[in-house]
Amino acid sequence: MKILIVGVGYVGLVTGLCLSEFGYQIIFVDKNKEKLDNLKKSKCPFYEPGIDQLLDKHLNETKRINFSSNLSNSMKNIDIVFISVGTPSRRLEDEADLTSVFEVSKEIASNINNYCVIVTKSTVPVGTTRKIKEIISQQINKNKFDVVSNPEFLREGSAINDFMRPDRVIIGTESKKSEEVMKEIYRPLFLKETPIISTSIETAEIIKYASNSFLATKIAFINEVADLCEVSGANVQDVAKAMGLDRRIGSKFLNAGPGYGGSCFPKDVKAFSSTALKAGIKLSIVDAVNNSNKLRPIKIANKISNYYNNELKNVVLTLLGLSFKPNTDDIRDSTSIIIAKELINRGAIVNAYDPKAKYNAQKEINEIKYFDSAYEACYQSNGLIIATEWNEFRGLDLNKIKKILVKPVIFDLRNIYSKKETNLLGIEYFGIGS
Ligand code: UDX
Ligand code: UDX
Repeated sequence: MKILIVGVGYVGLVTGLCLSEFGYQIIFVDKNKEKLDNLKKSKCPFYEPGIDQLLDKHLNETKRINFSSNLSNSMKNIDIVFISVGTPSRRLEDEADLTSVFEVSKEIASNINNYCVIVTKSTVPVGTTRKIKEIISQQINKNKFDVVSNPEFLREGSAINDFMRPDRVIIGTESKKSEEVMKEIYRPLFLKETPIISTSIETAEIIKYASNSFLATKIAFINEVADLCEVSGANVQDVAKAMGLDRRIGSKFLNAGPGYGGSCFPKDVKAFSSTALKAGIKLSIVDAVNNSNKLRPIKIANKISNYYNNELKNVVLTLLGLSFKPNTDDIRDSTSIIIAKELINRGAIVNAYDPKAKYNAQKEINEIKYFDSAYEACYQSNGLIIATEWNEFRGLDLNKIKKILVKPVIFDLRNIYSKKETNLLGIEYFGIGS
């Protein structure tokens, strides 16, 4: 089978490379020519562990992949098209921007010449896949194509593993024929006993939003419990650990921190709520999660500012970690960036270091002073903020940090260290939820 992937972002590229691992011929199509030129030179446009090796293997060894900026010319004899173009939040609104999805659908429709399955891989509000069917039906007879919803559950930083060892594969179809096609391409996973859930299109679309919104709810929940722990002399990590031992709750996604960020949770929580509201349903819990999380990075910046009696003018502070999570260079909706901007707006000078996200951060925010190591960023600084839990921040030489900080204080937003071990070294310590 020949597969075409439209939108070569974090999701499209990982999906296509993993499918080429299964032996399929893949054509990647993207409108960003610079991105395609780099990919043709085996240069991945973003950091994702393991992706460089897969790209190089299937570009230069198996030669199963090709890149093109021309969707129309690439549609010949294609059996499956994955739509994985961006569906960001609309500016100043909560709704998902589906402009690209619908534009791409129209172009696909103009070039279908044999039976073809069109798959929405991008996270799209319930009802979108059916709208894509209507768009295509205006040009193509209904028996020459089917639409499918096949949402992804890839986490940045572990996307390849999440594709190859998913908890489940969700296939939303309305015909046996398209269901069979999808089961065929995921057969390698099926053989590994991965549950393949076949359901309706709308159910598949809601599964994605409900899953992401529930994960976001767990995070927002434990973050508010952390606030209570701080004023009660309790420890949120012990609370979370004990909660997680209840198999009905589960231990994952109960790490208290500065709030959730990234290109998915913030936009998916907002889109879930706005889509439901348009259907007359108010998702009050999802709304509460969104409101709670939006305030959280500001609350954290306030807490740090209060420590300095809200006199941050020209106070140098060090921020370790700019990406929204470790093992990625993605800074989209990063709480680290939000906190840095808040502190700068209050007059602070922010020194920062991040193992991978410096380049992306420099494109977005130039008031930060960027350094190439954690220790350089700490020189002459009045406080250290650990904002993203990169592994290399777990083994810092705290004695050295204490010597080079002007003021030996750590705001550990990811609870990497403990009050006990830092206080023993004469470092003042503020964690989350303790
Ligand atoms: C995307 C969606 O944003 C997200 O909602 C969904 O869950 C998964 O797919 P991501 O891969 O992170 O997530 O998107 P992004 O990194 O923004 O890549 C989208 C790609 O689509 C970009 O390379 C962009 O150039 C391309 N694109 C966008 C097109 O090729 N054509 C378009 O019309 C629009
Ligand atoms: C998420 C979903 O996990 C994934 O299934 C979906 O396909 C895309 O969105 P991603 O956004 O890449 O993946 O990262 P994730 O690891 O989920 O973290 C999201 C945010 O939540 C990050 O800002 C992270 O710091 C935060 N987080 C996560 C917490 O604050 N606490 C936790 O316990 C877990």
